[in-house]
Amino acid sequence: MKLLVTGGCGFIGSHFVRLALARHRDIRLVNVDRLTYAGRGRNLADIERDSRYCFLKADVASSAMFQILHRHRPDAVVNFAAESHVDRSIHCAADFLKTNTLGVQNLLDAARAAGVRRFVQISTDEVYGSISGSGRARENAPLLPSSPYSASKAAADLCCLAAHRTHGQDAVITRCTNNYGPYQFPEKMIPLMITNALHDIPLPVYGDGQQRRDWIHVEDHCRGIFLALEKGTAGGIYNFGMGSEPPNLMIVLEILKILGKSETLIRHVKDRPGHDRRYAVDTTKARKELGWTPLMNFERGLAATVEWYRENTAWWLRLKDAAFRKFYRQNYGRPS
Ligand code: NAD
Ligand code: TYD
Repeated sequence: MKLLVTGGCGFIGSHFVRLALARHRDIRLVNVDRLTYAGRGRNLADIERDSRYCFLKADVASSAMFQILHRHRPDAVVNFAAESHVDRSIHCAADFLKTNTLGVQNLLDAARAAGVRRFVQISTDEVYGSISGSGRARENAPLLPSSPYSASKAAADLCCLAAHRTHGQDAVITRCTNNYGPYQFPEKMIPLMITNALHDIPLPVYGDGQQRRDWIHVEDHCRGIFLALEKGTAGGIYNFGMGSEPPNLMIVLEILKILGKSETLIRHVKDRPGHDRRYAVDTTKARKELGWTPLMNFERGLAATVEWYRENTAWWLRLKDAAFRKFYRQNYGRPS
């Protein structure tokens, strides 16, 4: 099988590329990434020399995608490329619409023109909006996005479904809950809290910290995506999630405990505008139709993730903002 993956230098995409090459000997994989602030070739340093792998720098929203898809003619496209941080979307929604929505329409058109058999769109549970009570969103729940990020992803999902209905294009959508694990950019909650705590910088908890996310290990998500690629129904949508929702504050306390740091580092700061209180999805369909089941228990996965950031200071230090780097130099000297 020949796969074209977009956004493979980001957090989830890099895990997917590694998993696909490790598990499937006969795969050839082209990774197209614009290398934004969130994408790093180094995330895939271990597989760069694999003869089955090739990297191309391009923007998913550009006409170059037509030439790339025509030249490589993959069996399937798996689209991870996105602007992915909610807080950034609040300040600059246009970039999100360009990549996450127009980029997806452009990819769908280019894939169809090149005769690509399957298009897998990596979406998010955030398209369902905040879920009240103890309910869980099923795949047919209404789309009620709260942030510019989730609105741009919901619009992309609708573009995929429209391409399926109008052109008979084979598109599959996955909607996963919050991921955590190695190589996540330290602007997202878990790596931000770990890296701040490692250097005794205050941990900013939005509002009361009682918001809930259903955290899933990135490798469990990637296994689900592969199953959706292989076994998903054309036009189908698949939720992935763990089914447990620890409040943010509890996770922050656990990180501090693992690192042996003081709870006095916690700062309750102004809440995020439009902050969704709870995300929760029903994963029955993925379990039944795809035979998917998550394997990593959150406590074990979180401890391993904390350990990874502790051991890989050089990977994340340069990514923190200038103020943080100055603070680090003044207090700790050169990074390891
Ligand atoms: P990320 O920000 O770590 O990586 C995004 C990647 O896309 C980067 O390598 C970046 O360089 C690339 N990219 C951005 N704009 C591009 C463009 N115009 N053209 C080509 N490449 C571009 O994001 P992530 O956390 O790995 O998320 C990957 C996908 O999974 C996204 O579509 C996101 O919406 C979805 N998702 C993420 C989560 C999560 O918890 N992180 C959960 C569910 C779904
Ligand atoms: P985040 O990792 O940005 O993912 P998302 O907004 O896509 O769910 O945030 C996860 C949760 O953590 C969310 O409820 C917001 C909260 N949060 C904080 O409390 N402080 C922070 O500094 C960040 C980045 C997030």
